[in-house]
Amino acid sequence: MNANVLMKAIQYHAYGTPEAVLAVAHIPVPGPLAGQIRIKVRAAGVNPSDWKRMGGQYEGFEEVVFPSGMGVEASGIVDAIGEGVDGVHIGDAVFGYGNDTMAEYAILSHWVKKPEGVPFEVAGAIPVVSETAWRCLDDLHVSAGSTILVSGAAGGIGSAVVQLARRRGLQVIGTASIRNQDYLRALGATPTTYGDGLKDRVKALAHDGIAGALDIAGSGIIPELIDIAGDPSKVVSVADFSATEYGARFSDGPPRNIHHVLTTVANLYAKGLYQLHIQAVFPLEETVKAQTISSQKQVRGKLVIVVN
Ligand SMILES: NC(=O)c1ccc[n+]([C@@H]2O[C@H](COP(=O)([O-])OP(=O)(O)OC[C@H]3O[C@@H](n4cnc5c(N)ncnc54)[C@H](OP(=O)(O)O)[C@@H]3O)[C@@H](O)[C@H]2O)c1
Repeated sequence: MNANVLMKAIQYHAYGTPEAVLAVAHIPVPGPLAGQIRIKVRAAGVNPSDWKRMGGQYEGFEEVVFPSGMGVEASGIVDAIGEGVDGVHIGDAVFGYGNDTMAEYAILSHWVKKPEGVPFEVAGAIPVVSETAWRCLDDLHVSAGSTILVSGAAGGIGSAVVQLARRRGLQVIGTASIRNQDYLRALGATPTTYGDGLKDRVKALAHDGIAGALDIAGSGIIPELIDIAGDPSKVVSVADFSATEYGARFSDGPPRNIHHVLTTVANLYAKGLYQLHIQAVFPLEETVKAQTISSQKQVRGKLVIVVN
Protein backbone atom coordinates (compact mmCIF):
# COMPACT_ATOMS: atom_id res chain seq x y z
CA MET A 1 0.00 0.00 0.00
CA ASN A 2 1.22 3.51 -0.83
CA ALA A 3 2.74 5.09 2.31
CA ASN A 4 0.76 8.29 1.67
CA VAL A 5 -2.60 6.58 1.98
CA LEU A 6 -4.47 7.91 5.00
CA MET A 7 -6.75 5.95 7.30
CA LYS A 8 -9.14 6.82 10.11
CA ALA A 9 -7.73 6.17 13.56
CA ILE A 10 -8.69 7.07 17.11
CA GLN A 11 -6.14 9.37 18.75
CA TYR A 12 -5.62 11.63 21.74
CA HIS A 13 -3.12 14.46 22.13
CA ALA A 14 -3.15 14.85 25.92
CA TYR A 15 -4.28 13.02 29.06
CA GLY A 16 -7.97 13.42 29.81
CA THR A 17 -11.45 11.93 29.68
CA PRO A 18 -12.84 10.42 26.45
CA GLU A 19 -15.06 13.45 25.79
CA ALA A 20 -12.19 15.87 26.33
CA VAL A 21 -9.37 14.29 24.34
CA LEU A 22 -10.48 11.49 21.97
CA ALA A 23 -11.00 12.19 18.27
CA VAL A 24 -10.96 10.51 14.89
CA ALA A 25 -7.76 11.45 13.04
CA HIS A 26 -6.64 10.83 9.47
CA ILE A 27 -3.11 9.44 9.58
CA PRO A 28 -0.81 7.35 7.35
CA VAL A 29 -1.44 3.60 7.30
CA PRO A 30 1.34 1.96 9.40
CA GLY A 31 3.62 -0.68 7.90
CA PRO A 32 4.56 -3.90 9.71
CA LEU A 33 8.12 -4.25 11.05
CA ALA A 34 9.94 -7.58 11.12
CA GLY A 35 7.90 -10.16 13.03
CA GLN A 36 4.65 -8.19 12.70
CA ILE A 37 1.62 -8.28 10.44
CA ARG A 38 -0.83 -5.58 9.43
CA ILE A 39 -4.55 -6.24 9.39
CA LYS A 40 -7.53 -4.46 7.95
CA VAL A 41 -9.32 -4.15 11.27
CA ARG A 42 -12.80 -5.63 11.62
CA ALA A 43 -13.22 -5.33 15.40
CA ALA A 44 -11.25 -4.05 18.39
CA GLY A 45 -12.14 -4.85 22.00
CA VAL A 46 -12.53 -2.02 24.52
CA ASN A 47 -10.51 -2.46 27.74
CA PRO A 48 -10.28 -0.38 30.93
CA SER A 49 -6.56 0.01 30.19
CA ASP A 50 -7.57 2.20 27.19
CA TRP A 51 -9.17 4.93 29.31
CA LYS A 52 -6.80 4.43 32.27
CA ARG A 53 -3.79 5.02 30.01
CA MET A 54 -5.56 7.98 28.39
CA GLY A 55 -6.42 9.39 31.82
CA GLY A 56 -2.76 9.35 32.86
CA GLN A 57 -3.24 6.55 35.40
CA TYR A 58 -0.14 4.70 34.15
CA GLU A 59 2.10 7.79 34.21
CA GLY A 60 5.41 6.83 35.77
CA PHE A 61 4.96 3.16 34.80
CA GLU A 62 4.53 3.56 31.10
CA GLU A 63 5.44 6.39 28.75
CA VAL A 64 2.65 7.68 26.49
CA VAL A 65 3.89 9.44 23.36
CA PHE A 66 1.39 12.01 22.04
CA PRO A 67 -0.45 11.88 19.76
CA SER A 68 -1.34 8.40 20.96
CA GLY A 69 -3.52 5.77 19.33
CA MET A 70 -5.86 3.54 21.29
CA GLY A 71 -6.58 -0.19 21.51
CA VAL A 72 -4.44 -3.24 22.21
CA GLU A 73 -6.42 -6.08 20.61
CA ALA A 74 -8.22 -6.66 17.32
CA SER A 75 -9.47 -9.08 14.71
CA GLY A 76 -9.27 -8.56 10.97
CA ILE A 77 -7.89 -9.61 7.61
CA VAL A 78 -4.14 -9.81 7.02
CA ASP A 79 -3.10 -7.31 4.36
CA ALA A 80 0.68 -6.95 4.86
CA ILE A 81 3.31 -9.26 6.33
CA GLY A 82 6.57 -8.20 7.97
CA GLU A 83 9.96 -9.75 7.37
CA GLY A 84 10.57 -13.14 8.96
CA VAL A 85 6.90 -13.97 9.50
CA ASP A 86 5.83 -17.49 8.48
CA GLY A 87 2.58 -19.40 8.56
CA VAL A 88 0.20 -16.57 7.73
CA HIS A 89 -0.99 -15.27 4.36
CA ILE A 90 -2.58 -12.15 2.93
CA GLY A 91 -6.33 -12.59 3.27
CA ASP A 92 -6.23 -14.77 6.41
CA ALA A 93 -8.68 -13.92 9.18
CA VAL A 94 -6.74 -13.51 12.43
CA PHE A 95 -7.00 -11.94 15.87
CA GLY A 96 -4.53 -11.01 18.57
CA TYR A 97 -2.55 -8.30 20.34
CA GLY A 98 -1.42 -5.11 18.67
CA ASN A 99 -0.96 -1.39 18.95
CA ASP A 100 -3.46 1.35 18.23
CA THR A 101 -6.05 -1.15 17.06
CA MET A 102 -8.97 1.31 17.02
CA ALA A 103 -8.23 2.26 13.44
CA GLU A 104 -8.95 1.06 9.92
CA TYR A 105 -5.58 -0.73 9.80
CA ALA A 106 -3.43 -1.93 12.70
CA ILE A 107 -0.22 -3.77 13.42
CA LEU A 108 -0.40 -7.04 15.35
CA SER A 109 2.61 -8.42 17.20
CA HIS A 110 0.97 -11.68 18.39
CA TRP A 111 -1.88 -13.37 16.56
CA VAL A 112 -3.63 -16.66 15.83
CA LYS A 113 -6.00 -17.67 13.05
CA LYS A 114 -9.67 -16.97 13.69
CA PRO A 115 -11.82 -20.10 13.57
CA GLU A 116 -14.74 -19.75 11.13
CA GLY A 117 -17.31 -20.18 13.88
CA VAL A 118 -16.09 -17.12 15.79
CA PRO A 119 -17.50 -13.76 14.61
CA PHE A 120 -14.96 -10.96 14.15
CA GLU A 121 -16.46 -8.90 16.98
CA VAL A 122 -16.03 -11.81 19.39
CA ALA A 123 -12.49 -12.61 18.21
CA GLY A 124 -11.45 -8.97 18.62
CA ALA A 125 -12.56 -9.09 22.24
CA ILE A 126 -10.91 -12.39 23.22
CA PRO A 127 -7.20 -11.61 23.78
CA VAL A 128 -6.88 -9.38 26.86
CA VAL A 129 -9.61 -10.87 29.03
CA SER A 130 -8.76 -14.49 28.17
CA GLU A 131 -5.04 -14.17 28.76
CA THR A 132 -5.54 -12.21 32.00
CA ALA A 133 -8.12 -14.70 33.30
CA TRP A 134 -5.93 -17.69 32.44
CA ARG A 135 -2.84 -16.08 34.02
CA CYS A 136 -4.47 -15.00 37.28
CA LEU A 137 -6.00 -18.46 37.71
CA ASP A 138 -2.51 -19.95 37.22
CA ASP A 139 -1.15 -17.49 39.79
CA LEU A 140 -3.77 -18.52 42.34
CA HIS A 141 -2.39 -22.11 42.46
CA VAL A 142 -5.58 -23.89 43.53
CA SER A 143 -6.51 -27.53 42.93
CA ALA A 144 -9.51 -28.96 41.13
CA GLY A 145 -12.43 -29.54 43.46
CA SER A 146 -11.78 -26.44 45.57
CA THR A 147 -13.84 -23.25 45.68
CA ILE A 148 -12.62 -19.78 44.74
CA LEU A 149 -14.15 -16.34 45.22
CA VAL A 150 -14.10 -13.96 42.24
CA SER A 151 -14.70 -10.32 43.13
CA GLY A 152 -16.01 -8.70 39.96
CA ALA A 153 -17.21 -11.75 38.03
CA ALA A 154 -19.56 -10.12 35.48
CA GLY A 155 -17.14 -7.95 33.51
CA GLY A 156 -14.78 -8.96 30.71
CA ILE A 157 -12.13 -10.68 32.80
CA GLY A 158 -14.56 -11.96 35.43
CA SER A 159 -16.76 -13.69 32.83
CA ALA A 160 -13.66 -15.41 31.42
CA VAL A 161 -12.34 -16.34 34.87
CA VAL A 162 -15.61 -17.98 35.88
CA GLN A 163 -15.76 -20.16 32.77
CA LEU A 164 -12.06 -21.08 32.69
CA ALA A 165 -12.14 -21.88 36.42
CA ARG A 166 -15.15 -24.18 35.94
CA ARG A 167 -13.23 -25.95 33.14
CA ARG A 168 -10.38 -26.48 35.64
CA GLY A 169 -12.80 -28.25 37.96
CA LEU A 170 -13.15 -25.39 40.43
CA GLN A 171 -16.31 -24.20 42.15
CA VAL A 172 -16.73 -20.44 41.78
CA ILE A 173 -18.50 -17.92 43.97
CA GLY A 174 -18.70 -14.71 41.96
CA THR A 175 -19.75 -11.21 42.99
CA ALA A 176 -21.84 -8.87 40.87
CA SER A 177 -24.73 -6.46 41.25
CA ILE A 178 -28.28 -7.80 41.55
CA ARG A 179 -28.95 -7.41 37.82
CA ASN A 180 -26.04 -9.74 36.99
CA GLN A 181 -26.83 -12.60 39.40
CA ASP A 182 -28.59 -14.72 36.75
CA TYR A 183 -25.85 -13.93 34.24
CA LEU A 184 -23.23 -15.32 36.65
CA ARG A 185 -25.35 -18.39 37.31
CA ALA A 186 -25.55 -19.05 33.55
CA LEU A 187 -21.75 -18.85 33.31
CA GLY A 188 -21.43 -21.54 36.00
CA ALA A 189 -20.79 -19.48 39.14
CA THR A 190 -22.68 -19.32 42.40
CA PRO A 191 -23.54 -15.63 42.48
CA THR A 192 -23.59 -13.25 45.40
CA THR A 193 -23.63 -9.47 45.70
CA TYR A 194 -20.67 -7.30 46.67
CA GLY A 195 -20.67 -4.82 49.55
CA ASP A 196 -21.18 -5.10 53.31
CA GLY A 197 -21.50 -8.60 54.73
CA LEU A 198 -19.58 -10.35 51.94
CA LYS A 199 -17.71 -12.59 54.40
CA ASP A 200 -20.94 -13.93 55.89
CA ARG A 201 -22.52 -14.50 52.47
CA VAL A 202 -19.44 -16.38 51.25
CA LYS A 203 -19.29 -18.44 54.43
CA ALA A 204 -22.89 -19.52 53.92
CA LEU A 205 -22.16 -20.55 50.31
CA ALA A 206 -18.72 -22.20 50.72
CA HIS A 207 -19.15 -24.97 53.25
CA ASP A 208 -15.53 -26.15 52.89
CA GLY A 209 -14.06 -22.65 52.82
CA ILE A 210 -12.33 -20.67 50.12
CA ALA A 211 -9.08 -21.93 48.57
CA GLY A 212 -8.34 -18.59 46.92
CA ALA A 213 -9.79 -15.22 46.02
CA LEU A 214 -9.33 -13.17 42.86
CA ASP A 215 -9.76 -9.42 42.93
CA ILE A 216 -10.86 -8.49 39.42
CA ALA A 217 -12.95 -5.41 40.22
CA GLY A 218 -10.18 -3.56 42.05
CA SER A 219 -12.76 -2.13 44.44
CA GLY A 220 -10.40 -1.69 47.38
CA ILE A 221 -11.28 -4.86 49.29
CA ILE A 222 -7.92 -6.68 49.44
CA PRO A 223 -7.92 -6.85 53.29
CA GLU A 224 -11.48 -8.25 53.22
CA LEU A 225 -10.52 -10.87 50.62
CA ILE A 226 -7.48 -11.88 52.73
CA ASP A 227 -9.77 -12.21 55.75
CA ILE A 228 -12.19 -14.40 53.76
CA ALA A 229 -9.47 -16.58 52.18
CA GLY A 230 -7.53 -16.81 55.44
CA ASP A 231 -4.07 -15.88 54.14
CA PRO A 232 -2.56 -13.20 51.86
CA SER A 233 -0.92 -15.90 49.74
CA LYS A 234 -4.40 -17.02 48.72
CA VAL A 235 -5.33 -13.67 47.18
CA VAL A 236 -4.40 -12.44 43.69
CA SER A 237 -5.42 -9.08 42.23
CA VAL A 238 -5.28 -7.90 38.64
CA ALA A 239 -6.60 -4.43 39.40
CA ASP A 240 -5.34 -3.16 42.78
CA PHE A 241 -1.65 -2.21 42.94
CA SER A 242 -1.89 -2.05 46.74
CA ALA A 243 -2.33 -5.86 46.90
CA THR A 244 1.39 -6.44 47.45
CA GLU A 245 1.41 -4.09 50.47
CA TYR A 246 -0.87 -6.59 52.20
CA GLY A 247 1.24 -9.61 51.15
CA ALA A 248 -1.17 -10.60 48.36
CA ARG A 249 -0.02 -11.02 44.76
CA PHE A 250 -0.54 -8.64 41.84
CA SER A 251 -0.74 -10.53 38.55
CA ASP A 252 0.63 -8.46 35.70
CA GLY A 253 1.84 -8.77 32.11
CA PRO A 254 3.66 -9.44 29.92
CA PRO A 255 1.12 -11.89 28.53
CA ARG A 256 1.94 -15.58 28.94
CA ASN A 257 1.19 -18.55 26.64
CA ILE A 258 -0.63 -16.20 24.28
CA HIS A 259 -1.03 -18.49 21.30
CA HIS A 260 -2.21 -21.42 23.38
CA VAL A 261 -4.72 -19.34 25.36
CA LEU A 262 -6.18 -17.53 22.33
CA THR A 263 -6.48 -20.70 20.27
CA THR A 264 -8.04 -22.65 23.13
CA VAL A 265 -10.63 -20.01 23.99
CA ALA A 266 -11.58 -19.36 20.35
CA ASN A 267 -11.98 -23.09 19.68
CA LEU A 268 -14.13 -23.52 22.79
CA TYR A 269 -16.31 -20.63 21.59
CA ALA A 270 -16.58 -22.13 18.09
CA LYS A 271 -17.76 -25.43 19.63
CA GLY A 272 -20.39 -23.67 21.72
CA LEU A 273 -18.54 -24.47 24.95
CA TYR A 274 -17.69 -20.89 25.91
CA GLN A 275 -19.59 -17.61 26.04
CA LEU A 276 -18.28 -14.15 25.36
CA HIS A 277 -21.11 -11.75 26.02
CA ILE A 278 -20.88 -8.56 23.99
CA GLN A 279 -22.92 -5.86 25.66
CA ALA A 280 -22.71 -3.49 22.68
CA VAL A 281 -20.78 -2.71 19.52
CA PHE A 282 -19.90 0.79 18.34
CA PRO A 283 -18.56 2.18 15.06
CA LEU A 284 -15.10 3.76 15.22
CA GLU A 285 -16.71 7.21 15.24
CA GLU A 286 -18.47 6.36 18.53
CA THR A 287 -15.36 5.32 20.43
CA VAL A 288 -15.88 8.22 22.86
CA LYS A 289 -19.24 6.74 23.85
CA ALA A 290 -17.78 3.23 24.23
CA GLN A 291 -14.88 4.42 26.40
CA THR A 292 -17.19 6.54 28.54
CA ILE A 293 -19.43 3.54 29.21
CA SER A 294 -16.39 1.35 29.98
CA SER A 295 -15.09 3.94 32.47
CA GLN A 296 -18.38 3.67 34.40
CA LYS A 297 -17.37 0.07 35.30
CA GLN A 298 -20.74 -1.58 34.75
CA VAL A 299 -20.16 -3.48 31.53
CA ARG A 300 -21.45 -7.04 31.35
CA GLY A 301 -18.88 -8.97 29.27
CA LYS A 302 -17.31 -6.73 26.64
CA LEU A 303 -17.76 -3.61 24.50
CA VAL A 304 -16.38 -3.74 20.97
CA ILE A 305 -15.50 -1.20 18.28
CA VAL A 306 -16.38 -2.47 14.80
CA VAL A 307 -14.67 -1.14 11.70
CA ASN A 308 -16.04 -1.64 8.19
N1 LIG B 1 -3.21 -6.98 35.68
C1 LIG B 1 -3.53 -7.29 34.44
O1 LIG B 1 -2.81 -8.02 33.75
C2 LIG B 1 -4.79 -6.72 33.84
C3 LIG B 1 -5.11 -6.99 32.49
C4 LIG B 1 -6.30 -6.48 31.98
C5 LIG B 1 -7.14 -5.70 32.79
N2 LIG B 1 -6.78 -5.45 34.08
C6 LIG B 1 -7.67 -4.67 34.99
O2 LIG B 1 -8.66 -5.56 35.48
C7 LIG B 1 -9.83 -4.81 35.86
C8 LIG B 1 -11.08 -5.47 35.32
O3 LIG B 1 -11.07 -5.45 33.91
P1 LIG B 1 -12.37 -5.87 33.09
O4 LIG B 1 -12.02 -5.79 31.65
O5 LIG B 1 -12.94 -7.12 33.63
O6 LIG B 1 -13.33 -4.65 33.49
P2 LIG B 1 -14.87 -4.42 33.13
O7 LIG B 1 -15.31 -5.42 32.14
O8 LIG B 1 -15.03 -3.00 32.79
O9 LIG B 1 -15.59 -4.69 34.54
C9 LIG B 1 -16.89 -4.28 34.68
C10 LIG B 1 -17.56 -5.14 35.75
O10 LIG B 1 -17.09 -4.75 37.03
C11 LIG B 1 -18.13 -5.07 37.94
N3 LIG B 1 -17.99 -4.29 39.16
C12 LIG B 1 -18.00 -2.94 39.28
N4 LIG B 1 -17.81 -2.60 40.58
C13 LIG B 1 -17.71 -3.77 41.27
C14 LIG B 1 -17.51 -4.07 42.65
N5 LIG B 1 -17.37 -3.12 43.58
N6 LIG B 1 -17.42 -5.38 43.01
C15 LIG B 1 -17.56 -6.36 42.08
N7 LIG B 1 -17.75 -6.13 40.77
C16 LIG B 1 -17.82 -4.84 40.37
C17 LIG B 1 -19.39 -4.75 37.22
O11 LIG B 1 -20.42 -5.60 37.69
P3 LIG B 1 -21.86 -4.97 38.06
O12 LIG B 1 -22.26 -4.19 36.82
O13 LIG B 1 -22.69 -6.18 38.32
O14 LIG B 1 -21.62 -4.06 39.23
C18 LIG B 1 -19.06 -5.01 35.76
O15 LIG B 1 -19.62 -6.20 35.28
C19 LIG B 1 -9.59 -3.39 35.34
O16 LIG B 1 -9.18 -2.59 36.42
C20 LIG B 1 -8.46 -3.56 34.34
O17 LIG B 1 -7.69 -2.38 34.19
C21 LIG B 1 -5.64 -5.95 34.60
